[in-house]
Amino acid sequence: MCGIVGYVGSRNAAPIIVEGLRKLEYRGYDSAGVAIHDGKGIEIVRTLGKLARLSDALEKRPLTGSTGIGHTRWATHGRPSEANAHPHAAGPVAVVHNGIIENHVAVRQELEAQGVKFLSDTDTEIVAHLIHREIERGVKPLFKAVQGALKHVVGAYAIAVTSREEPDVIVAARNGSPLVVGLGEGEMLCGSDIPALLSHTRQMVFLEDGDVVELRASGIKVETVSGEAATRKAKQIDWSPVQAERGGYKHFMRKEIHEQPDVVEATLRGRIDLAEGDVYGAEMGVSAEVAREVRRVYFIACGTSHHAAIAGRYWMEQLAKVPCVVELASEVRYREPLFYPDDLVVAVSQSGETADTLAALKAAKAGGAKVLAVANVLDSAIPRAADGALYTHAGPEIGVASTKCFTTQLAALLLLAVYMGRRRGTLPQDRSQKVLQSLVEVPNHMREVLGDADYVHAIAKRLTHAKDVLFLGRGLGYPIALEGALKLKEISYAHAEGYAAGEMKHGPIALIDEQLPVIAVCPRDAQYDKMLSNVQEVRAREGQVIAIATKGDEEMLEIAQHVVWIPKMADEVLPLITVLPLQLISYFVANLKGNDVDQPRNLAKTVTVE
Ligand code: M6R
Repeated sequence: MCGIVGYVGSRNAAPIIVEGLRKLEYRGYDSAGVAIHDGKGIEIVRTLGKLARLSDALEKRPLTGSTGIGHTRWATHGRPSEANAHPHAAGPVAVVHNGIIENHVAVRQELEAQGVKFLSDTDTEIVAHLIHREIERGVKPLFKAVQGALKHVVGAYAIAVTSREEPDVIVAARNGSPLVVGLGEGEMLCGSDIPALLSHTRQMVFLEDGDVVELRASGIKVETVSGEAATRKAKQIDWSPVQAERGGYKHFMRKEIHEQPDVVEATLRGRIDLAEGDVYGAEMGVSAEVAREVRRVYFIACGTSHHAAIAGRYWMEQLAKVPCVVELASEVRYREPLFYPDDLVVAVSQSGETADTLAALKAAKAGGAKVLAVANVLDSAIPRAADGALYTHAGPEIGVASTKCFTTQLAALLLLAVYMGRRRGTLPQDRSQKVLQSLVEVPNHMREVLGDADYVHAIAKRLTHAKDVLFLGRGLGYPIALEGALKLKEISYAHAEGYAAGEMKHGPIALIDEQLPVIAVCPRDAQYDKMLSNVQEVRAREGQVIAIATKGDEEMLEIAQHVVWIPKMADEVLPLITVLPLQLISYFVANLKGNDVDQPRNLAKTVTVE
């Protein structure tokens, strides 16, 4: 998730912008850059790596001027490199962007056909060229040229633009990605988030999707992309700087839990053709031929990613009808696994750097298998070592306990299963349309469930002193039970077990008494009746049941002590929703215990050693 800062006023812009970018470092980034108008023209400095490198470069080549834009880039299209770092220039303009332009391939082809030469692999560069094209067509001022250009852009964006021809102006716009405008005394700022601006002003204007804003030292003007005037009232911000970095949340984990509707939307964006009931192949990382011909899908992963892979297996078997195996990467690497050239090995890893997953991937390659990486960090070791990559667009995840990376992995793996099913002819169009339609509806359902966080908090209070908690699920609820248990143990330090509910009679039922809380994942899906019986068995032994159930389920309401409701949804997409209350429960329990939620003891975010 990139960071944007813009400044127009009377002070030297570069240090203000770099300081603002520093406040956005928590968003994660791999490169940075600034464009400063020195009164005559625009100078751009970009560097790969951390902001210290940008500061060093600016010391060697100081840029002076009181109008400028800056950016920290989290790579989504095009590897991290100086050439892909923002700002991107075209003619008199320089542009920084946060978000994903969905139609960038088509627009790039159109512009190339008109003679435009591209200097980067980014989706952003098309925006710079579109604005330049408007200017060449005589559209003035910059504000109007940006409005004209954005009419050709589909996707999510926040942008800031500066032009050689208008030294006292920045134009910014938002649609689906955050952008805040700060109103200073004789100076105006814009930024991706409040902390970037907070040391200069507490008067902020929150733009709405479709807004375009012109910033001058004396004030701002807001219109929609189509040119209608818009009034946006300023708000006084009274957050402390630390609070501000976490968007008002106490911990990054909580913030990341609540980001899930947006990042799942970002992961789906531009990849689904609802009318055809299909998934575009361009970003799936697997050719149609491989999708059609593989004889086995072999998932390898660790921890939370392993749980996403288990769900991936269910989808792959149901929709693409291809035999699947799911293995812990740490086990595969030390066995003598058998891989074949007609295997598709799918290595799932949010960080893309997990040592065990990388080693297992190399073993698969050595065996001649095709390898696909499902990763969140562009150009990290695992996608680099794979034959193809399918990226999730969760943005940087800072809390050690993975939340938004998990649900975006689920979204990506379901897309992959639909893509494979359509290529293999095993998934009829009407069914894939239903699955994809349900997937598109997931973000709104997520918002609804996360809106009930206070109720989940009340339940979590009862679990604060629990020493053991049992999580049960069946079918697609099974990986969610595993994930709920992992979340709880890693941040609350309570012992938790995730079990396939059908295994209860084979052992864990012996644990059940009035002391043992059992969290049952039992939405109204194909496995519901079996889950209901399991819940009855727990209750018959005085176990305390917290059920995750579908709204209106009177039977469950009668049996379970507590019920967290989820909306009625298609079976296939349920795991993206049923996991949310479990993430919240573990968060609240850990917080109530006073634990270090974001950095739990003994754990690292990226496990690059065995
Ligand atoms: O980066 P990866 O997805 O490969 O990481 C795998 C595990 O280390 C990771 O999921 C770990 O289990 C998390 N802390 C879970 O919250």
